[in-house]
Amino acid sequence: MKKYIYTFDGELTIKIILIMKKIEAIIRKSKFGEVKEALHEIEVNFFSYWDVTGVGNEKQGHVYRGVSYSTSDIQRRFLSIVVSEEFLEKTVETLLKSAYTGTVGDGKIFVSNVIEAYRIRTKEKGANSLK
Ligand SMILES: Nc1ncnc2c1ncn2[C@@H]1O[C@H](COP(=O)(O)OP(=O)(O)OP(=O)(O)O)[C@@H](O)[C@H]1O
Ligand SMILES: [Mg+2]
Repeated sequence: MKKYIYTFDGELTIKIILIMKKIEAIIRKSKFGEVKEALHEIEVNFFSYWDVTGVGNEKQGHVYRGVSYSTSDIQRRFLSIVVSEEFLEKTVETLLKSAYTGTVGDGKIFVSNVIEAYRIRTKEKGANSLK
C-alpha cells in the first residue's frame, strides 16, 4: 500500500511516500550463504546480521539415539532488513524459500512498520535513503 500526499503550490505536485517495513528473520546459520545469495538475486543487498541464541518451541526438540536435542541449540543468525514496501512480498518469499529445510527449528520471520529512515551522509530520508 502506498500513501499519497497531494499538495498545491502554484502547480499540482504529487508526492509519493513509500512505506518502509522491517523484516527480521531468525534463520539457521548454516543457511546464511544460501539466503544471502537469494536476497542478492532480488537486489536486496543491504541488511544487518548477528549471531544469536534463543529459545524456540522446545516441545518440538527431538530425541536421537536416546539423547534429547533442543532446537535452541541450533546456531542461528538474526537478519534485520529494512525495505520499501514494494520489496516486502518478494523479500519474505525469498526468505521462506531459501531458509527452509522442513525440519523443526527452521526459524521465524517478523515484519513491522518503520516510521523513518535517514542516510547520515546525504541527510536523505524515507525510502530514498534505503537505495
Ligand atoms: N515469538 C518469538 N519471538 C522472538 N523470537 C522467537 C520467537 N519464536 C522463535 N524465536 C526465535 O527463533 C528461533 C527459532 O525458533 P523455531 O524455529 O524453533 O520456532 P518454532 O516456532 O519452534 O518453529 P519449529 O516448529 O520449526 O521449531 C528461536 O531460537 C528464537 O531465537
Ligand atoms: Mg522450535
